[in-house]
Parts: sequence; structure tokens; C-alpha cells
Amino acid sequence: MTIEWIAPFYDRLCTLLGLGRAFRRQILEVAALKAGERVLDAGCGTGVWTRLAAEAVGSSGQVIGFDPGPRMIGIARRNAARDGSGAAFELAAVEKLPFEDASFDLALLSLVLHHLPAEVKRSGLKEIGRVLRPGGRLIIVDLDRSDSVLWRIVLWLLSYVGTSADAFEGKLPIYLREAGFEPVTVEGRWRKSLTLWRAMKPLSSIASVETPAKSTD
Ligand SMILES: C[S@@+](CC[C@H](N)C(=O)[O-])C[C@H]1O[C@@H](n2cnc3c(N)ncnc32)[C@H](O)[C@@H]1O
Repeated sequence: MTIEWIAPFYDRLCTLLGLGRAFRRQILEVAALKAGERVLDAGCGTGVWTRLAAEAVGSSGQVIGFDPGPRMIGIARRNAARDGSGAAFELAAVEKLPFEDASFDLALLSLVLHHLPAEVKRSGLKEIGRVLRPGGRLIIVDLDRSDSVLWRIVLWLLSYVGTSADAFEGKLPIYLREAGFEPVTVEGRWRKSLTLWRAMKPLSSIASVETPAKSTD
């Protein structure tokens, strides 16, 4: 599901919702990027974090942001050109990636998984596992269970938005482990509403991990 109609206002909306520069910087801290690394920003939207990551890896590294939304990618390319950023952008969807196996050190999925139906979450995470090198890391920022009573009420109401319900039920780490990532660790929280996880692609290949067969009963 793309949210193309929001693209022209997306950055302003993020700032209004408290998802501005400080939020992007916290993701950067958890990612702990090194000069020369190859990075994928999956479902990059307007590419705000993609541009920060490109600065962090420097000219010896490479950062690619992709998104299935042509308007999102159009804005991302325009903003990168305006800032003289080295970030590159492509039209693509996480469940079918146009990248080689084991070709990235780190991937980010920020605020993307809760937009995807369960089967696309599963196939998308397997695709990310395919393109990460062994020992590579995946950072996920998304909705989760919450300790705040007020937020729990809001989340309960929002859980009627089909693709988000499993995130509110705390199932994202389960999908990550099913896709072969281990360990999966919580690295931080953002304003009691979002969790930042780090999921590692084991040194022994993730490609052999099969999705569990569906129960027939
Ligand atoms: C809430 S925005 C998040 C954008 C950006 N990652 C951020 O942190 O601001 C969700 C993004 O996921 C993208 N998206 C939707 N379906 C997708 C898919 N199948 N694969 C990759 N991205 C997808 C949407 O087009 C949208 O840009």
C-alpha cells in the first residue's frame, strides 16, 4: 500500500508528529554506520534518512533508497539534487528487490512494515535477508505494544486498520525471527509509541530458512 497522496506534505506531517530530525538522528545512532558501508533504505518515502545515511557513509560508501511510490521517489530525487547528496533512489517494492544477493551491509525499514499485509511482511523480510551480507544488520522502526494506557487506547482503535494490527500485538519480532534474523534486539523507543529493533543476518546463510508450512487444521 503506497501513501502517494500524502507525498507533497509528508515531511511537514512528520515534523508535526514529532518525527523530525531528532527522530532520524536516533535511527542513525542505532544504525552505527561506518564510512564505506553499502546501505539500503527500504520504503524510503521522501528520503530524509537516506540523505543523512549517505553523509554518514561518505563518498566511499553507497546508499540506495527505494519506494514503490513514484511521487515519493520524485521528491526524494529532487531533495537529494538540491542538497548535493550522494544518495540514489529507485522505484521498487520490498517483496521483489532488484538487487544482488549479499550486497548490502545494512538495511532500514522505518515506518513501513505496518503498511504491509502479513504475507508481504514475510516475503519482504526474506528479500531483505537475501540482499544483506552474512553478518549484515536490519534496523526496524515501527509500531509496537505500548506501556502507556492512553497510547494503548489509541493503538487499540488504530488496530482496526488491518495491516497494523499485528504490529500493535507485538508480532514484528516474530516475523523477523521467522525470516531467519537472529538475534533480534530492542535498541530504543521513540516517545512511547515506536520501537527501534536491530535484527542480525546470521553468518551462516539466511537463504536456507523456509517459511513454516501453513497449518491445515
Ligand atoms: C510512513 S511511510 C515511511 C517513509 C520513510 N521510511 C520514513 O521513515 O519516513 C511508508 C512508506 O512505505 C512505502 N511502501 C508501501 N508499500 C511498500 C512496499 N511494498 N515496499 C516498500 N515500501 C513500501 C510507502 O510508499 C511509503 O513511502
